[in-house]
Amino acid sequence: MNKFNFSYPTKVYFGEGAAAEALKLELPKVGKTVMLAYGGGSVKKNGIYDELKKLLLQAGKEIVDFSGIMSNPTYAKVQEGAALARESQVDFILAVGGGSVIDCCKVVSAQAALQEDIWSMEYEKGKFPVAGIPMGAVVTVSGTGAEMNSGAVITYEEKMWKGPVVGTGASFAVLDPVYTATVPAMQVLSGAFDTLSHAMETYLGTSDADNVSDDAALAVMRNTVVNMRRLLQDLNDMQARGNLMWDSAMAENGILKVGRLTDFQAHQIEHQLGAYTDCNHGQGLAVIHPVYYRHILKDAEEKFTRFAKTVFGKDTAEEGLEALTEFIKECGLPTKLGQLQSKVEITPEVLRKVADTCNIIKCNPRQLSREEIYEILLECM
Ligand code: NZQ
Ligand code: ZN
Repeated sequence: MNKFNFSYPTKVYFGEGAAAEALKLELPKVGKTVMLAYGGGSVKKNGIYDELKKLLLQAGKEIVDFSGIMSNPTYAKVQEGAALARESQVDFILAVGGGSVIDCCKVVSAQAALQEDIWSMEYEKGKFPVAGIPMGAVVTVSGTGAEMNSGAVITYEEKMWKGPVVGTGASFAVLDPVYTATVPAMQVLSGAFDTLSHAMETYLGTSDADNVSDDAALAVMRNTVVNMRRLLQDLNDMQARGNLMWDSAMAENGILKVGRLTDFQAHQIEHQLGAYTDCNHGQGLAVIHPVYYRHILKDAEEKFTRFAKTVFGKDTAEEGLEALTEFIKECGLPTKLGQLQSKVEITPEVLRKVADTCNIIKCNPRQLSREEIYEILLECM
């Protein structure tokens, strides 16, 4: 293990009825004006909005609605939220949704407390926010694990860029599997695939031998696959949904990442693909992973072999990769870029732009060149 410091700021309330318990305990600690932030309306249809609104009013809070946060939240939406938070003198933000709503709110929180533009501050000056409006997260669709970290992924449309912005982490997170009951099958599975991807991307980075993070990552991967298979049998298996909800948090709350360099190149490629296409994050990853892994199989053969044995009960690295490819098909997730919902036609020219603007990161097992990223993307067509 490399040297690290670790602490955990997010209190988790897990299980049926967790929102009522959490809000009863947490709301007395925060100011009067609460921004209730959500997406395109699913929470209004399934009753979660009304339930939370009632709890907020019972606690004597004044509510400022911030609605319409889209999947792959944009920088413009962040600025809209930050302006509203400042104007309404919001004391606390309650983000209700999935990765998109939670990420947008993390940056709204930080931007509202800043005198300067957060993107310029982070990307041009290399400075990161140290303050923000306190926030909590109520998860209604799981997969990203966004509720337990302070990093957000934002699309800056004018710059044709999708990437990380550091914001404010939630002080508490509500994880009630019942709140995910109305999520459509494809989103449930693509979200869970995102979880699997986070654990794989962390595991394939470098660490010393026999460390607990590798073993824990393999356990999260195996458990995610087992529970995704349970959902393929019965989408309403709430125990499996609950297991996946915690797998999701475990994969991206930072615990697996301590003391190591990670990979996360499939994510970098997918994010920039998202900047051009606005595709679904988990679905984009499902297309990219097998192709990318064929490129790096020999660079991490021992790790791929252990992955094959532990996650899919196979003997060799190649068989493990084959099993992953088959599993993606079994889940009905896309295997080609052409199957993704995209705002533009995905052509070699578009993919060239994705490859040329993709974030190149320090990672292991092997850093890709832009040329190889382009090759991978072409192979995904
Ligand atoms: O907008 P509404 O109407 O609420 O519909 C949403 C949305 O269409 C729907 N939904 C949410 N809860 C529901 C529901 N539908 C029915 N019943 C419910 N209870 O689900 C759809 C997808 O929601 P979204 O939040 O976009 O999905 P997800 O959680 O997968 O988040 C994706 C975003 O997170 C980023 C991705 O890049 C993407 O922008 N990520 C964030 C990470 C992080 N902060 O740690 C890590 C990830 O790698 C990822 O990059
Ligand atoms: Zn992800």
